[in-house]
Amino acid sequence: MEGMTLLVTGGAGFIGSNFVHHLLERYSDIAVIDLDMLTYAVNLANLSDLEADPRHTFVRGDICDRKMVDRLFQEHRPDMVINFAAESHVDRSILEPDVFVRTNVLGAQCLLGAAREHEVERFLQVSTDEVYGSLGPEGLFTEDTPIDPSSPYSASKAGADLLALAYNRTFGSPVLITRCSNNYGPYQFPEKLIPVIIMNCLEGRPIPVYGDGMNVRDWLYVGDHCSAICRVLKRGRPGEVYNVGGNNECTNIDMVRTIIRIMADRLPDAGIDESLISFVADRKGHDRRYAIDASKIASDLGWEPTTSFERGMAETVDWSLENRGWMDSVISKDYLNYYDRNYSQR
Ligand code: NAD
Ligand code: DAU
Repeated sequence: MEGMTLLVTGGAGFIGSNFVHHLLERYSDIAVIDLDMLTYAVNLANLSDLEADPRHTFVRGDICDRKMVDRLFQEHRPDMVINFAAESHVDRSILEPDVFVRTNVLGAQCLLGAAREHEVERFLQVSTDEVYGSLGPEGLFTEDTPIDPSSPYSASKAGADLLALAYNRTFGSPVLITRCSNNYGPYQFPEKLIPVIIMNCLEGRPIPVYGDGMNVRDWLYVGDHCSAICRVLKRGRPGEVYNVGGNNECTNIDMVRTIIRIMADRLPDAGIDESLISFVADRKGHDRRYAIDASKIASDLGWEPTTSFERGMAETVDWSLENRGWMDSVISKDYLNYYDRNYSQR
């Protein structure tokens, strides 16, 4: 990727900001144009260490704004586009679905149109295993599993995937899709399960576990997701979908207990124990189990995750303890309203 210009959308968010750092740590001769609207889910502090880095240009803007997007393409002539920008939280999509369709579907279409006109070499749509719907107790999602989304969030992501594949078939656009399982790591907004657990341990607040806590997710350290995306950008075949997973299935209740144990170990006097666990009403349309078969990206592109769950989780907890200021700064009025709306009805 040396010598290239990459347009990264959503590069201030959780995975996007980790990805931008991942790139800049590895490539000295690279230009990253970072287009992000800075929604509620973002703290610009995620990128503050890059303020003086000439390889990184931050642009605040909306991926649905075609005129602005065209201007960006004309000015910077990106070789590749990586689309992370999205509304990303399932519970919010149940409360307010409209913005999910706008950003996730219309935004992807806008970028696909501009990328086609400006003839980029690669367009990578960052997608999710949630497009496949829910698994029973057995089996894994492969790239051939039919799309069967359950939430407005996953339906909007599936819509974007279908558009991207249609651009490849109809116009020959060099589109690649990655479908990844649940990420965890630094800079994750505390509306998702793992930072909610960590934050509530720190605040001594109840940890809300939906339903019976036996839903299963396949957890992947965010740094491994970033390396998978780089691998697909470099070696992936246009028109192909690549599943990305951590081989790390865990029930939600086991995850909660594990993090409580780690937190209690780090802060023995803080009164952190399982009495914080609070079972609450289930999420509507809650997918029971996700598990990824990542054998295609392993055999075709030679990618496998390298961060063990123990190491990744210890690093995540330690980062959260060392960055209490970051955690506190994302707790806005909007966040508190959302927290109240989502949890008070349960
Ligand atoms: P996030 O919510 O932390 O970040 C999304 C970013 O997109 C934010 O910086 C936000 O400001 C930006 N954005 C939203 N609307 C925009 C718009 N209209 N124009 C420009 N920017 C806009 O989400 P995340 O967890 O980092 O997820 C990033 C991508 O990865 C998403 O596409 C998501 O669907 C996908 N994904 C996430 C996970 C996960 O576990 N978090 C797993 C698989 C796939
Ligand atoms: O699988 C990939 C997806 O993972 C991404 O596409 C999404 O962007 C990302 O948000 C994530 O979706 P999930 O819905 O799986 O993640 P979340 O952290 O919201 O929830 C994980 C599990 O924990 C899920 O079964 C719901 C449950 N949960 C979640 C929260 C926030 C709880 O039990 N309590 C909670 O408070």
